[in-house]
Amino acid sequence: MTERIRELIEKLAEAHSLALSEYQELVEAQCPEAANLLAEKAIAVRRAIYGNAVYVRGLIEISNICRNDCLYCGIRRSNAHCERYRLSEEEILACGEEGYRLGFRTFVLQGGEDPFFTDQVLCRIVTALKTAHPDCAVTLSMGERSRESYQKLREAGADRYLLRHETADQEHYGKLHPAEMRFENRMRCLRDLRELGYQVGCGFMVGSPGQTSHTLAEDLKFIQEFKPDMCGIGPFVPHKDTPFREHSAGTLEQTCYLLSIIRLIHPPVLLPATTALGTIHPEGRELGILAGANVVMPNLSPVSVRKKYELYDNKICTGEESAQCKDCLSARVASVGYEIVTDRGDIKK
Ligand code: 5AD
Ligand code: FES
Repeated sequence: MTERIRELIEKLAEAHSLALSEYQELVEAQCPEAANLLAEKAIAVRRAIYGNAVYVRGLIEISNICRNDCLYCGIRRSNAHCERYRLSEEEILACGEEGYRLGFRTFVLQGGEDPFFTDQVLCRIVTALKTAHPDCAVTLSMGERSRESYQKLREAGADRYLLRHETADQEHYGKLHPAEMRFENRMRCLRDLRELGYQVGCGFMVGSPGQTSHTLAEDLKFIQEFKPDMCGIGPFVPHKDTPFREHSAGTLEQTCYLLSIIRLIHPPVLLPATTALGTIHPEGRELGILAGANVVMPNLSPVSVRKKYELYDNKICTGEESAQCKDCLSARVASVGYEIVTDRGDIKK
């Protein structure tokens, strides 16, 4: 590591911001020594805010039916090999019951952009979940919708919304998505969600096709400016039935490096150690926590559908019951010296 890079890391840890070109330099200077220094500082700022707590969110994958056709995604509409499913309202609420019994106080309803989930249907589910469990936070991760739709869902009780921006570079966005999807609309959604009072999560894949140190610098600048409550970052992992099947996966090292940088840019941010990170390395999520992540998301979906929610090849946690998945993650978190906390886990500002 050069003296220059050491200075940039010190500056980032103090000012929580760098110039675009400095972010690019830092990304290009990735080496074990710089990674260790970043992780050390990231852990220190996280400890000051969250102690050794790691928050859990129960993930319920409610539908893999999607009208979108993102080139990287295994459940894109063009994938004729994907066996489609949709959970019924009863099944979704039953997952909530089971999750509550297991101690979860945050539920994430995630799915493709399935036209079945109109505002009316989704609002009814959100209200039912919030009525059954008023002490729980409900997070939605259901893609791009209109401002009116986000407003109705918020009024129905939704607390948080996850919508990865995928890349902050418009040209790169165009390479990852079909022409009918617009970068401007993605950003419009994120701003609408913020204005409507949601806690908002953005995020991106590490090592996605066409990503460069420049596009990553733009992602970091965007995070510095937008200051999301949550930021989901995990490695890109190819899916065999997509146009990117031959592309290599993102790396553990780069993902951890970026987790540390993002922790330093926005110290209170909620940062998941993602399933994708656990998929590319057996201890990926543990190493993510050691780099600065502080959230894990055990799978609460019915085991019968898990294999079908395959965004990328070899996704983990598809065979285990919810209780097993939770216990497995608790043990993993404990193995690196952290403690699972099952309250709502709101951002500390
Ligand atoms: N590899 C890794 N992550 C993926 N996602 C979709 N497809 C893949 C893939 N092949 C991520 C996207 C999306 C989130 C739900 O999953 O970033 O926003
Ligand atoms: Fe889900 Fe280990 S975390 S099975």
